[in-house]
Amino acid sequence: MRRALVAVTTVLAVALAGTPASATVRPRAAPAPGGPGVGDSYYPDYGNGGYDVSHYDVRLRYWPDTDKLTGTTTILARATQDLSQFNLDFALAVTSVRVNGWQASFARQGAHELVVKPARPVNAGQQLTVVVQYADTPSAVKVNGFTSWVRTSDGALAVGEPEIAWWWFPSNDHPTDKATFDIAVLVPDGTQVVSNGVMPSQPVRELSGWSRWYWRSTKPMATYLAFMAIGQYEIRTDTSVSGQPVINAYSDNLGEFADAARASVERTSEVVDWESTVFGPYPFEARGGVVTPPASMGYALEDQTRPMYDGRFFRRGSNMYVVVHENAHQWFGDSVSVADWRNIWLNEGFASYAEWLWSEAQGEGTAQELFDYTYALYPPDDPFWQVKPGDPGAQDPFHAAVYDRGAMTLHQLRLAVGDDTFFSILREWTASHRYGNATIEQFQALAEKMSGKDLDALFTTWLFTPGRPNLGSPSTMAA
Ligand code: ARG
Ligand code: ZN
Repeated sequence: MRRALVAVTTVLAVALAGTPASATVRPRAAPAPGGPGVGDSYYPDYGNGGYDVSHYDVRLRYWPDTDKLTGTTTILARATQDLSQFNLDFALAVTSVRVNGWQASFARQGAHELVVKPARPVNAGQQLTVVVQYADTPSAVKVNGFTSWVRTSDGALAVGEPEIAWWWFPSNDHPTDKATFDIAVLVPDGTQVVSNGVMPSQPVRELSGWSRWYWRSTKPMATYLAFMAIGQYEIRTDTSVSGQPVINAYSDNLGEFADAARASVERTSEVVDWESTVFGPYPFEARGGVVTPPASMGYALEDQTRPMYDGRFFRRGSNMYVVVHENAHQWFGDSVSVADWRNIWLNEGFASYAEWLWSEAQGEGTAQELFDYTYALYPPDDPFWQVKPGDPGAQDPFHAAVYDRGAMTLHQLRLAVGDDTFFSILREWTASHRYGNATIEQFQALAEKMSGKDLDALFTTWLFTPGRPNLGSPSTMAA
């Protein structure tokens, strides 16, 4: 689903239909290849041009002992131009591609582009059903020298940001093209599969010794937020106070972190309910969390409806901050997604500030205390201050500056506009871009409109200027 594009195309179609017969009719352009990327300023070849996906049906079989993965992904899409060929982002070995029932020819271009040439031309507006069959060993497939796919002692993790999708399903791999998902995975009996959304069915034994797990995401989801955890997990299913499905999963290999992990992730629903009062209604159909074996991932990720946490986050005891952070991303990142990866502050700055708000609400330290602490933590000559949170660069989009200076920026905004306006801005932001994509410039414009203040100096200083901002200098006191 690419909302803005669909709207523009519809307007164009109406305009063309209304063209008087006497007007000069331009000859129809010859079908052209869909672009190999969407022109992201950091990752120009991520995503593809010429079509818009509405649904992925991902059907897999996985052998934990050997990391063998076979699959069929069916993509429902709509052409947005006359297409002679189009690309999918995919790194595994493909055995066949069909487009609307016809065998298509296909070729790999570089490590993660699959070029598909349909047997018949595709017209703008046409519905496409693309069926890709594949078989490979994801841990052995490197793109730019690495794989995000993780093998564990008992299974595997398909999780990563921005790159993970091309190690397990072909896609239009950019947050601007969200879609719904059905994910079905056949694994040996006794192995569990956890993914996004809800379970439309309990696992079904479909072959002797093998069971298929079914997961469904009914709200639009960016491709990088689709995940899969395969292995030995305790799965806990519950219903939230608000009536939503809660599904949490804990690796059997958490060792001494097992209790602290449960003491944190079992509070997910409490966190989501609190965040709803601060950020607006929770955007998705289910909740939960997955705790993976210690040091398997090394980070946490805001996978839609069900964040993933490396077990090590709970090594000192409970850790509500990581739960608050990843669930805040459900609003900031998953529902309101970056229009371009350059805007990563819209995800990480906001999820980090949510931690300060939780601290304040819990009486563990105010946001102002955390601001003062963080400001002093990095001396003025620390390289930390040289990274611009509003444009950290393609090499290190997750630099600490995006998180910490990013949260400091929001605190400065809060001081400049006052609490009432600040929290109204947050709620208006999540409401007006729900299930969509947005830019930092749009956030600044909204904050200026709602506060009636010129905030250019504040945003320029805190997001786009290297060096530690002076506190109380005129440039930061935008009001
Ligand atoms: N978005 C994640 C977070 O919640 C960070 C992802 C970092 N990615 C990585 N491959 N280490 O902060
Ligand atoms: Zn984050």
